Amino acid sequence: MVPFLRRSLQAILLLFALPLASGEAVRLDGGWTFKPGDNPAWAAPSLAEGGWKPIKVGLAWQKQGYEQLQGHAWYRLSFTLPERLRQDDRLKEGLRLSIGQVADFDECYLNGQRVGANGQVAPPDSAPDPDFWKADEGLPGRPRVYVLRPDDPRLRWGQVNVLAVRVYMVSGWGGLTGGEPMEARMIDHADLTSLEPAREPFAFEGARLTKRVLLTNRSSRWQLRGTLEIQGAGLLSGQPVLARRLQVRVAPGGHQEVRFAIPQREEACRFTYRLRFQEGGVPMERIEESPYLLTPKTRRAPRINGPQVLGARPGNPFLWTIPASGQRPLRFKVQGLPGDLRLDPASGMIEGTTPPAGTYPLRIQASNAHGSDTRTVDLVAGPRLALTPPMGWNSWNAWGLAVDEEKVVASARTFVEKGLRDHGWNYVNIDDGWEIPENSAAPKREADGRIRVNGKFPDMARLGRRIHEQGLRFGIYSSPGPATCGGYTGSYGFEAQDAASYAAWGVDYLKYDWCSYSTVAKNLTSLEELQKPYRKMDQALRQVNRDIVYSLCQYGMGDVWTWGEAAGGQLWRTTYDIDDTWKKLSAIGFAQTANAAYAGPGHWNDPDMLVVGWVGWGPSLHPSRLTPDEQYTHLSLWSLLAAPLLIGCDLTRLDAFTLNLLTNDEVLAVDQDRLGRQATPVIQEGSIQVWARELSDGGLAFGVFNLGETAATYRVDLAKLGLQGSPQLRDLWRQKDLGPSAGAHPVRVAPHGVVLLKASRAR
Ligand code: GAL
Repeated sequence: MVPFLRRSLQAILLLFALPLASGEAVRLDGGWTFKPGDNPAWAAPSLAEGGWKPIKVGLAWQKQGYEQLQGHAWYRLSFTLPERLRQDDRLKEGLRLSIGQVADFDECYLNGQRVGANGQVAPPDSAPDPDFWKADEGLPGRPRVYVLRPDDPRLRWGQVNVLAVRVYMVSGWGGLTGGEPMEARMIDHADLTSLEPAREPFAFEGARLTKRVLLTNRSSRWQLRGTLEIQGAGLLSGQPVLARRLQVRVAPGGHQEVRFAIPQREEACRFTYRLRFQEGGVPMERIEESPYLLTPKTRRAPRINGPQVLGARPGNPFLWTIPASGQRPLRFKVQGLPGDLRLDPASGMIEGTTPPAGTYPLRIQASNAHGSDTRTVDLVAGPRLALTPPMGWNSWNAWGLAVDEEKVVASARTFVEKGLRDHGWNYVNIDDGWEIPENSAAPKREADGRIRVNGKFPDMARLGRRIHEQGLRFGIYSSPGPATCGGYTGSYGFEAQDAASYAAWGVDYLKYDWCSYSTVAKNLTSLEELQKPYRKMDQALRQVNRDIVYSLCQYGMGDVWTWGEAAGGQLWRTTYDIDDTWKKLSAIGFAQTANAAYAGPGHWNDPDMLVVGWVGWGPSLHPSRLTPDEQYTHLSLWSLLAAPLLIGCDLTRLDAFTLNLLTNDEVLAVDQDRLGRQATPVIQEGSIQVWARELSDGGLAFGVFNLGETAATYRVDLAKLGLQGSPQLRDLWRQKDLGPSAGAHPVRVAPHGVVLLKASRAR
């Protein structure tokens, strides 16, 4: 080719290869100043920043010398917005201000004017919103991005701009916590394209897994063109399962749907979706892992599940439904029912009054047309409750403060309809958000001190009845401080009245969350001060004639596991809040070691609630961001840890994978084992950790976890687990005997996955 022509062609190609936006970004991740407290005047660009201190972003303010555990604080930053940013940009759709993630709520100002709140852009001249922190959207991990048109009057091109962020923290760690790039740049074609395959999980259809992926063009002008490549391969086997390449063309504001199906497998497959824009630039890439089912189908013949021991206090109301799977109708019989306890033979519900102190073996039989099953469950009437870790549902990880009576009742109904109750799930617990907001003008209590409820929970006694009617137990939430973490009325100064209200409503479980008690207790290093509010509520609960399981929530302060039982608790949170990421899950789960010796029947360490299924901490939910293998790890590790199991998802959207995950009786039996031993890590080798716990039948349950990023083959040295000879091994997820094994047992473990086994050995 003639050199001239070649050069012109190169120039033309270069032109097409140029990304649409200049790609330059102004970094917003350094140079911030900080002040705790709240004053709308702190948004002003010309503020004299006396008393403001430099602060790092990406790190909670508590980790930088600020103790405040709840409430408002402000961040400020000055930065120059170069004129060339908008001049070099071809799309001219907008400037994208990203301030990363915020714990928990934010209101964002630019040059003294409000830009928006909690990631929602507001028009120019919008007034500050003192209630910005009452939105249900803020929690957690939602990136805060504000997009302004290039000609927006709030932007000062070629000049210094002042960003001021008003933050409100509900609980845990507070501030601008990073997690996402913090920058200002013009939006590009990738910002205008939405490709979120994980928003719509794979569906199980017969022997296949089907998938629908939506590609959306959010631009009002630009035509999306390119190619989409989808590749999938088994994570354990490495076997390819799909390779597709298709042309995409999406009009402004339109979308294109892509569908595919693969056969179901006994491993997750990793899918990579790569979208190359015709204009070039960095391709968009998304990764997703497909679910797979390990729990075998429930048999038609009856099987009695759940705990083998129950604790209840003499003279108090008793309610328990025998958890039993198998084709309905089932018929129940119980021999040895003491006192006035009555059995409903059709539902298996046992109700009445707990008999005098003693141990009462209940010989239970469940039968149907396909056979029968029997089991003895010891009813131990005495002071102790929760002789096995509580199992149930809690509203927080799903609904956050957007919970209401109908959502709670819908969960209870699903427990029954989807059969979760048959596998031992029985507490239905409201978390924060049912009282009158603390800063509302409405009275928070009746004249006699009784707590009032808000419009989302008009009648608590009715709700209690609706839950009990399903044979389930009812849980509630409060704080020892004047306000709960979500800003609703707490129990401070009204402990006795609140305990009495709970009893009147039929409450069976109380989560008591520290929150604003920090404003009462001044010295967080004093064990006595940490214990005081918990002991106080314990005394109040003991005055009422109900078995109210008492869950202490104060994030592990003062090594709560060493004194939680003495303070009256049956369980205590050992950590700050979990979320649906591997980072959080693994950081919490694999750190539960120092507290192991303190777990046992009636006193449990609580590493926080389950993050499987559709979660969201607010009105808009998403499928858990944990991969299927991470979810198997979650359930396996929590069961080994003898952790309370509280499902935290919207149960009405329970998918086949999540249901399968939550109904494996052999895995749940590890959690519910009556010996109550908490697992400890016995082997740690590279990315492999083996956690093991003794079981009441003399067996040993152990999980081989792979914390690494690639599949691992590992030989478990059984002698290191204290297993001599040739123990029989059983795969608990698959419910399959593996036969005797001696020496080193080989396993293949998916990245972030687990193999959960039980070794039987003679006592
Ligand atoms: C947190 C607690 C969460 C949830 C929330 C409610 O302190 O750890 O589990 O209860 O408060 O506001």
